[in-house]
Order: sequence, then structure tokens, then C-alpha cells
Amino acid sequence: MSSTVFRTKKVEQSIRDTEEPEHALKKSLSALDLTVFGVGVIIGTGIFVLTGTVAKNNAGPAVALAFVAAGVACGLAALCYAEFASTVPVAGSAYTFAYASLGELPAWIIGWDLVLEFALGTAVVAVGWSGYIASLLDNAGWHLPQALSGREGASGFGFDILAAALVLVLTGILVLGMKLSARITSVVVAIKVTVVLTVIVAGLFFIKGDNYKPFIPKSQTVEAGGSLKAPLIQLMFGWAPSNFGVMGIFTAASVVFFAFIGFDVVATAAEETRNPQRDMPRGILGSLIICTTLYVAVSIVVTGMQHYTRLSVNAPLADAFKATGHPWFAGFISFGAAVGLTTVCLILLLGQTRVFFAMSRDGLLPRFFSRVHPRFKTPYRPTILLGGIIAIVAGFTSLSELAELVNIGTLFAFIVVAIGVIILRNTRPDLPRSFRTPWVPVVPILSVCASLWLMLNLPAETWLRFGIWMVIGFFVYFFYGRTHSRLARGEETRVGEGV
Ligand code: ALA
Repeated sequence: MSSTVFRTKKVEQSIRDTEEPEHALKKSLSALDLTVFGVGVIIGTGIFVLTGTVAKNNAGPAVALAFVAAGVACGLAALCYAEFASTVPVAGSAYTFAYASLGELPAWIIGWDLVLEFALGTAVVAVGWSGYIASLLDNAGWHLPQALSGREGASGFGFDILAAALVLVLTGILVLGMKLSARITSVVVAIKVTVVLTVIVAGLFFIKGDNYKPFIPKSQTVEAGGSLKAPLIQLMFGWAPSNFGVMGIFTAASVVFFAFIGFDVVATAAEETRNPQRDMPRGILGSLIICTTLYVAVSIVVTGMQHYTRLSVNAPLADAFKATGHPWFAGFISFGAAVGLTTVCLILLLGQTRVFFAMSRDGLLPRFFSRVHPRFKTPYRPTILLGGIIAIVAGFTSLSELAELVNIGTLFAFIVVAIGVIILRNTRPDLPRSFRTPWVPVVPILSVCASLWLMLNLPAETWLRFGIWMVIGFFVYFFYGRTHSRLARGEETRVGEGV
């Protein structure tokens, strides 16, 4: 048994698979495209929406420190991702990396987990987008019927038609091809970064020093002691569940971690990159550094403009300007946020279909899904199927219910990638690596610890949901993937010795 579930796919085989004409994606992206892609997906609901929620509920002005903590964890993971992405430059991200290093079952688990991450992430962002659009429509005097504006406040039937429509339109764009979507992405990213810089620069003039007192609010015990809503770490050690204080910063970090999701998505586009060996590390690390700097600056400015207890949870950046008497700025920010969230959705959707595509090409999911479109060279079948499902999920779910589940899945993927770096260094020291993670195994081990720490700060109920999803995946693998995989069927064409 262990010899089959831990069979590894040789790195050379992964690369050769991408060269089969009917399963090949078009190589059109450069390092700049990747960085724009990264910034395009990283800055989104996390900074535009979650900043206010966690400042108000968990960390106060110290939300800036939460961004630093989450940023450090992501930086460590990025160093590992970059080595893997430059070693195994094919579609599928952590899934592909795991297949080449840890074995088929761990790879399946990761792929299954990434499908959850990207699908729910897309849905979360689509719902956030719809909120901003609805508020802009309200400004113009147009109101959607309650039943079509979705989740919050809907009594009885509530379907978020805007969120679902967005997902369907983006699905169409992805089917038409990468280049088109990358071009749209760059324009939208420029708008989004302008809005974020506007918040930082204009907001500086409205900061009041008193709003930073206290910078780290005193820890407060939460009533619902012992409930599954408490962070797992607090339940494990029998601590009274609490908000604020030092532990509040870590709780906040495990939530605002969502704001960083996306740099790993850059790695999923490796196969469509002209020179992945050189450009992947640049794209991943570049976009992460830019975003971390902007997040810390935005959170310091916003909590300085308005006391954290009064921050809005729906549109904190825009509402902070309203509160200081500058509605024009607020309108501009809302517009830019809505435009910006579009690219986040687009790229998460792209990452999602690419992982599904890679798993199907390997035979772990039906091969039907890995035929690319003869003209557009895109994996149109999984794109259309998953786009449809996500549109329904986005229509029927609320934002906060899902963000934490997305985070736990992503953190789990980070842990597998970090372990994979250490293993592949030992099993395949010969492979060319254009980017090498510094201080192996220290940095990967620190990366595992940091990701695990953030996971432990997520609510126990999130762990439970994640566990259920993974158990389902386990069954799918044993009843389908294990026997249908190309490795199992010996379809692996001539491979060199090694591993
Ligand atoms: N990082 C992305 C966001 O914050 C997913 O929306």
C-alpha cells in the first residue's frame, strides 16, 4: 500500500506531460505579468473588508502587527514556494510540487485542498465585490430586490445575483484565453493600487493620535467559553477564550492571512510562463513584498483616522473617509475596491481551474477535463464546470462563513510545500534550481511552524469543517484516483532513473 500511495511522479515526467500537444497550455506570461497577476489577486477582500472586522473584534490598532505576523508567515512560505515553482515549472502549484516530492496521496490531498481554497476564495471575493457594487448602486438610487441581493438580511430566499453574475462573466473570459485576461488584469490592478495609495496618502492628513490609544487593547474574555468558535489553541490549553491582547493579534493574523492569499496562485501559472526558472521567484516574492508594505501602511492609517471601536465592518476604508467628512474620497475608494476585487476573483478562478486541470491530466480526476480548447488553448472544460458551481456557491453563501476555511486550507498547503522542499533537496539534489530557498532546512522548518501557529489560532469549528472536506477527499482518492492515475496505469512514458 505505502508503495502506491507514496509513489512519486518524476519531475522530468511532470515537465514532459506539459509538452503533449493536446494537453499543453500557451506560454505567454513574463515576470512583470506574474507580479501584476500577484498584486492583482493578493490585494482584495482582506484589506478592503477584513481589516475593519478584525480591528474591531480582535486586535484594535494592533491589526497592523497582525498583518506583519501573517506577512512573515507568508514570506517564509514564499521562499519555499519560489524554489519549488522554479524546479517544477508546470501547472498545479503545491499539488504538482507534492507529487514530485511527497507522493501521490499527499499530492491528492493537497490538490483536493487547493480546489477548496480557490473555489471558496473566489466565492468569498465575489460576495465582497457584490457588496461594494450594491452600495454604489444605492448611491445612484437603484436598489436590487431583497431576494436577489443575497445572504445578509435576507428573510427566506436570498440569492446574490451580482456575485453569481460576476463569476459567470469571468469564467467566459478565462475560456477565451490567458492573454486577454492578463491584459484586463493589468488595467484593473493599476486602479486598485491607485486606490490603496490614495487611502494611505490622503488618510495621513486625517490621523488623530488619540485613536491609537490603546494600541494593543487589553485582553477581554469572551462569554461563549469552550464553544467551537474559540481558537483551537485556546481550547487545547484550556485558556478562557478571549479577544484582544497579544493572543488577539494572532487571532487577527489568522484571519487577515486571507489578505495574502494569492502569491501561491502565481505559482499555479508556471506552465504559462515564458521563462519560469527565472520569472517565477521574481513574480512571487515581488508581489508579496509590495502587498505587505501596503497593508501595514493602510491599517496604520485607517485605525488612526477612526477609533477601532467605530470602524465599519462592511467598507472600513471608504467609511473612515466618510466619518472624517470626505464622502468624495469614500465614493472613489468604493469604486476602486469594486473594480479591484474583480481581478482577485478572476485569478483565484484561474488558479482553481489549473489545479483541477493538472489533477485530471494525471488521471486522479477524469481525463475528460484535461483536453485544452483547440483554438484558445485553455482548459475550458474544468473552467466551465467549476465556474458554474462557484457561481451557485457565491450566490448562496455569506463572506465571513467561508474566509477562515479558505485560510486553513491554504496554510495546510504551505506546510506541505515547505516539507517538500526539504525532501526534494535530499531525493533530487541534482535538479537545476534557478531559485534556492536560503538556509534549508531552517527556513522551511520555520515556515512549517509559522503556518501551523496561524492554523492553531483559527476556530475549532473551522478545523472540523476542514477535517470533513479532507475525509471526503480521502474516499474519492481510494475509490477513483488510486486506480485511474496515470502512474498506476503505467502510462508514464520513458523516464530517467532517479528518485
Ligand atoms: N488576498 C485576496 C483577498 O484579500 C484573496 O481578497
